[in-house]
Amino acid sequence: MSAASDIAGFIPAYPTRHEARLPLLQLVRTLRENAIGTYTKDTFERDIIVYRLLFKPMIMANHPELIRHVMLDNAANYERDPVGKRMLEPGLGNGLLTSEGADWKRQRRMMAPIFQPRRLAGFAEIMTEYSAALADKLVRLPAGQTVDMAEQMMLLTLDIIARTMFGADASTDVSAVGTAMDRYQVTVRPNIPDLLGLPRWVPRPDAAEGQRALAEMDAIINTLIQRRRDRAAQGGELGSDLLGLLLAARDDESGSTLDDREVRDQMATFFLAGHETTATALAWTWYLLSHAPAVEAKLHAELDAVLGGRPAQYADYDKLVYTRMVIEEALRLYPPAHTTARQAIADDRFERIDIPAGTMMIISPWIMHRHRLYWQNPDAFDPENFAPGKAASRRRYTYLPFGAGPRICIGQGFAMIEAVIILATLAQKLRARLVPGAKVAPVAKITLRPSPDLPMTMLPR
Ligand code: HEM
Repeated sequence: MSAASDIAGFIPAYPTRHEARLPLLQLVRTLRENAIGTYTKDTFERDIIVYRLLFKPMIMANHPELIRHVMLDNAANYERDPVGKRMLEPGLGNGLLTSEGADWKRQRRMMAPIFQPRRLAGFAEIMTEYSAALADKLVRLPAGQTVDMAEQMMLLTLDIIARTMFGADASTDVSAVGTAMDRYQVTVRPNIPDLLGLPRWVPRPDAAEGQRALAEMDAIINTLIQRRRDRAAQGGELGSDLLGLLLAARDDESGSTLDDREVRDQMATFFLAGHETTATALAWTWYLLSHAPAVEAKLHAELDAVLGGRPAQYADYDKLVYTRMVIEEALRLYPPAHTTARQAIADDRFERIDIPAGTMMIISPWIMHRHRLYWQNPDAFDPENFAPGKAASRRRYTYLPFGAGPRICIGQGFAMIEAVIILATLAQKLRARLVPGAKVAPVAKITLRPSPDLPMTMLPR
């Protein structure tokens, strides 16, 4: 029997799909609490939905060619959605995620070399080291002890991103940057002033706590930047961690470098974009595996054959085919970046649909990945969806956990290598089982987290 048919009965958790649209106040409240809880049943059956929200023209783009139009063919006419930007700018400033136009292009050109395979191989050594250490810790836990696997994944990816970014300054204040970022992140959620585009002086809920967390983070990052610049001024190395690479980055076209503010904004961006996303992808992978013993057995067979007991490394990535399929399927069912949006700059048209300037395009991996028109059995966990050769038969732009077009995730390679190394290294040593009776639901904040937590027990292999 194939793994697919073994587990066809397992439909992992998802929020209620409403029959009708929620009334406005309930809609805004649900948006704040759990954005994916606002969707109606027919959202997963229709390909283009035109509507208004707070008088604003909106289009839910569940149509692969419309997504291609917005994210690729006519991308110049679509800027990152201003609501999301207003929410993120206080923390991320003008980094890669929040900048636009020529400024974004320059930054992207300067960042691209940092994420090339040669660099990733170096970062992967850090991933292997920390994953192996966590595997050792988890297999030694007393039998039956519960751990929150979502938290464990978050701490692990935080350690990895911190070492990747500031490895040359391995000091205790580095993880404090991540803790401050996590505190800031909790305060970033849709609110009425941001939805309406009111000026910054209009009070936002949670803004004071967000500001305090940011001030703490900035103090540490700025000290680290200064320390590194001073060291270089005295003839020392800038370092080959992300901070050193950012400080050394030079734009080939203009010859310009990044100033301290820009380096700080990129660091904050990498922290925000680069650790919780991978952590939640892994948390959901453990949740799914815990319910699908046949998939888990197949995964273990691959790990035993390829690794034979040692931790996974960069060079194993290509050979860990099934491990990647499991992660890709987890990213389909629970895309950490669940929703993205663009706003039309000028009037536009797609097929017979007029798109007035100012229209907000909602592009939701959460919806596309579970859409009735594009997937068979869309709510079931089945890694065979990503078997080699399957991608060719899939309609393009129906699977977009990392986005699409020129603004596709710059950290995609980093994230996939990290997820594969962590899953392979841990799963080789242990099985994780959801505590019986634990109710886990996906809640969409900035990322799609398992809520309230992911209580699991470890079974050493
Ligand atoms: C599983 C993990 C990850 C997922 C699911 C993910 C997802 C995404 C998505 C969907 C976008 C595009 C957003 C849009 O078009 O509006 C994006 C952009 C971005 N991601 Fe990731 N990401 C992940 C990991 C990472 C990592 C590890 C880093 C860096 C270390 C990173 C850095 C960024 C940056 C800087 C952008 C903005 C790119 C630009 O606008 O040019 N991400 N990510």
